[in-house]
Amino acid sequence: MSMIKIEHLRKEYPNVTPLEDVNVEINKGDVISIIGPSGTGKSTLLRCLNQLEKPTSGTVTFDGEVITDPKCKMEQIRRKMGMVFQSFNLFANLNIIENIMAAPVKLLGRSRQEAYDEGMELLKRVGLAEKALNFPDELSGGQKQRVAIARAIAMRPEMILFDEPTSALDPTMVGEVLQVIRGLAKEGMTMMIVTHEMKFARDVSTRVFYMDEGGIYEEGTPEQIFDAPQKEKTRIFIKRLKQLPLTVENADFDYISYAAQLENFAKENILSDRTARSLQLVFEEAVTQNIAMRKDVFPINVMAELSETDESIVLEATYGGGKFDPVKDGDEISSALVKSASTMTGHSFENGMNKFRSVIKNRK
Ligand SMILES: Nc1ncnc2c1ncn2[C@@H]1O[C@H](COP(=O)(O)OP(=O)(O)OP(=O)(O)O)[C@@H](O)[C@H]1O
Ligand SMILES: [Mg+2]
Repeated sequence: MSMIKIEHLRKEYPNVTPLEDVNVEINKGDVISIIGPSGTGKSTLLRCLNQLEKPTSGTVTFDGEVITDPKCKMEQIRRKMGMVFQSFNLFANLNIIENIMAAPVKLLGRSRQEAYDEGMELLKRVGLAEKALNFPDELSGGQKQRVAIARAIAMRPEMILFDEPTSALDPTMVGEVLQVIRGLAKEGMTMMIVTHEMKFARDVSTRVFYMDEGGIYEEGTPEQIFDAPQKEKTRIFIKRLKQLPLTVENADFDYISYAAQLENFAKENILSDRTARSLQLVFEEAVTQNIAMRKDVFPINVMAELSETDESIVLEATYGGGKFDPVKDGDEISSALVKSASTMTGHSFENGMNKFRSVIKNRK
């Protein structure tokens, strides 16, 4: 039996209708990643589920109860449906353990001792037992978010909704929060997670919803959505995730920032650290050490792209400045390094524009 059934759900705002007609069922144990361009109603969908927003029309049935019915008691529903937001929303004036105990004591009628014991267990689980007596402003973003998750679990919900739980975090803290969510997935917690972390979505979800055009435009397993999307807009969205355009405007460029973007891109596409390094190496030796040293080449348009057919990355640079192939005409050391990091390289010169291409070696 489905846990949630959404039928003809519609949400209109005065100027925009993000949800036109959403129809879907969610089963116990589903881990659903919701992806899609900005403004396509991903947050609105979650907010309509736990009734932070009142849908314009349509019904949501949760555990056999029509929760969109005005007579339905919302506090009861919210107890069964936890929510974790981008911006932690902890109570600033309560310490960490009190943050976790508050709702179980107030809403579930637990004794303070019971709520404390359980709260400490949960804090251990998210690796923060030693922070029990600290206040939220004494914690890092990643730690606050782990507390927010513990606080949601303390209500023993049947499902948890996450709205971009890692997007307000420093990149170094994303992993620790995703790890906690991964643990919940392993335990069979039913979850819906709006996320931009595509590698995470691919790893943990049982289903992926791509939202666009007023609803769930396409859904499938992570393999179906990320590797073989069927509909046009999904294809364009997924293809864009697999591309990284970089423009080197002038000789005064910031190599570190480009290197970081390339590394991040490689990680998002689940490539190994060594492949990421090869990608950076080809960029550095061909583009920054050779092409960018020449006159009249700017802007250099670079595109790193995951190939459609296999897991290899193609790096392509387009630039002016007269015929120049960094492998044939560049300095010897750079040329050797580029060749060692590529399975093949190519160069063409047409209408005054150079195109240099390297297929990066995929290393385990
Ligand atoms: N309270 C509101 N009043 C009016 N319009 C709203 C309100 N909340 C959201 N919208 C509009 O509804 C549309 C969908 O918003 P929503 O926040 O659900 O998008 P989203 O998919 O979560 O986007 P993002 O990826 O940027 O978070 C947007 O055009 C937004 O401006
Ligand atoms: Mg949103």
